[in-house]
Amino acid sequence: MRVETHHLRCTECATVITKDEVSSNFRCPQCHGLYEVVYPWSAIPPAVQAPNQTTSQISGPTNEVHRVPNPSALRWLWQERRSSTMAVDQSGVWRFRDLLPIVDDLEKVITLREGNTPLYDLPRCAKAAGLDWLLAKHQGMNPTGSFKDTGMTAALSVAAQRGFDWVACASTGNTSAAMAAYAARAGLRSIVFIPEGKIAWGKLSQSMDYGAFTIQLRTDFDGCVKILGELVKQFPIYLLNSVNPYRLEGQKTPAFEMVEQMDWQVPEHIIVPGGNLANSAALGKGFSEMFQLGLIPRKPKISIIQAHGANPLYRWFIDSNRIMNPVTADTRATAIRIGNPASWRKAASIIDELGGWCEEVSEQEIALAKAEIGAEGVGCEPASAVTLAGLKKLVALGKVTREERVVLILTGHTLKDSAYTIDYHRDELFTDAERAQLSPAERAQHAALRKPPIVLDADASLVLRTLESHMQHPQPA
Ligand code: F0G
Repeated sequence: MRVETHHLRCTECATVITKDEVSSNFRCPQCHGLYEVVYPWSAIPPAVQAPNQTTSQISGPTNEVHRVPNPSALRWLWQERRSSTMAVDQSGVWRFRDLLPIVDDLEKVITLREGNTPLYDLPRCAKAAGLDWLLAKHQGMNPTGSFKDTGMTAALSVAAQRGFDWVACASTGNTSAAMAAYAARAGLRSIVFIPEGKIAWGKLSQSMDYGAFTIQLRTDFDGCVKILGELVKQFPIYLLNSVNPYRLEGQKTPAFEMVEQMDWQVPEHIIVPGGNLANSAALGKGFSEMFQLGLIPRKPKISIIQAHGANPLYRWFIDSNRIMNPVTADTRATAIRIGNPASWRKAASIIDELGGWCEEVSEQEIALAKAEIGAEGVGCEPASAVTLAGLKKLVALGKVTREERVVLILTGHTLKDSAYTIDYHRDELFTDAERAQLSPAERAQHAALRKPPIVLDADASLVLRTLESHMQHPQPA
């Protein structure tokens, strides 16, 4: 008898289906809800586990035998795999494969050795936010420069093993870059739908470099999603947007990695940027599973930060009737320029379940936070910087206290959107109206961070004189 390693459960009406029953748009036919992957051990209390085996056994509803992962053995195994030369062990996603048994053949997973991203401390940003210390999990240090790689290795491996030839996504640029790369590795054909003129060049170039069929639609991200939704109904194309629940299985692994990097201590608060709102849900699932399996003693809060111009979840959060109204999105943080987020219900329940918060931040606040993260020698793309900008607000509101351990999820690499960075440092980013909104103190903060390049004639004495006058200005602390 074949034992299923996992099922799909609708997050709205709780209907459970087998993996082969899911429709091409990954929506529940009854309620249009999104699915999540569930495992035989998903609802088992930690107490049934034996202390020294990797797994213990339980009987499922049809008397088939299932294995329940054991926490201390898992911790040891995950660490051991770091010194292995096998590709699946070197991947920071598949290293945790015991908690994502979603593929039939491990030897055929499509991996670029994603994950294993650094956890940096940001002492100056901590000070700016009013905290004793602050950490950043830099998911921009993945092979294609964003957190999307962790999800793409999972879902693309599923697509390849199920025999699809074509994969597709609508994207603000990072999903498409990751999908194009992993599809190329797998030898699959990929189609990218991106909003014309509204994504960063670095991301567009990646999709071309990795050989995707790239279609720039004259619409926004939400319009691209609509068109792709029509397409997958008519052609055998595997949809790789984050409605695909296998993406989230990969994207939950940074939660495992983070607590492992903190010696199995749990931070008090995780801060995530919010766009289509799947990543917050994925990390929340990761923490919930670790808690449920006894790997961690409690769960952290997860707060979501949106850009003011693309803030449907924030509006839902402050609305006393809790009604979700899509918005027409506009922000320079193009990765999160999304007005009708597919996974908003999943994100909303993560906020409610884990006791987090939702905030919005202005364009000026995003730019300042991005420059502050850059000045720590870390850097990130604008959408990632909303985390620091939002954290400052959460501290001011008393939602985060000085001594709490906070981890910012930096989702994309600074080189993803170098045009933004150059415009900021040349003081060409803000409109006059935006500049006028800055207080004198904020202007001074921006001025201290800006490092525009200067152009000089190739004259040694001129260079020397210029350096001397520059060195007389003290560096900000
Ligand atoms: N940060 C970056 C750098 C992103 O690219 C995205 C989403 C997010 C944050 C938001 O994550 O959607 O899970 O809430 N980018 C998608 C894309 C939409 O197409 O690349 P989310």
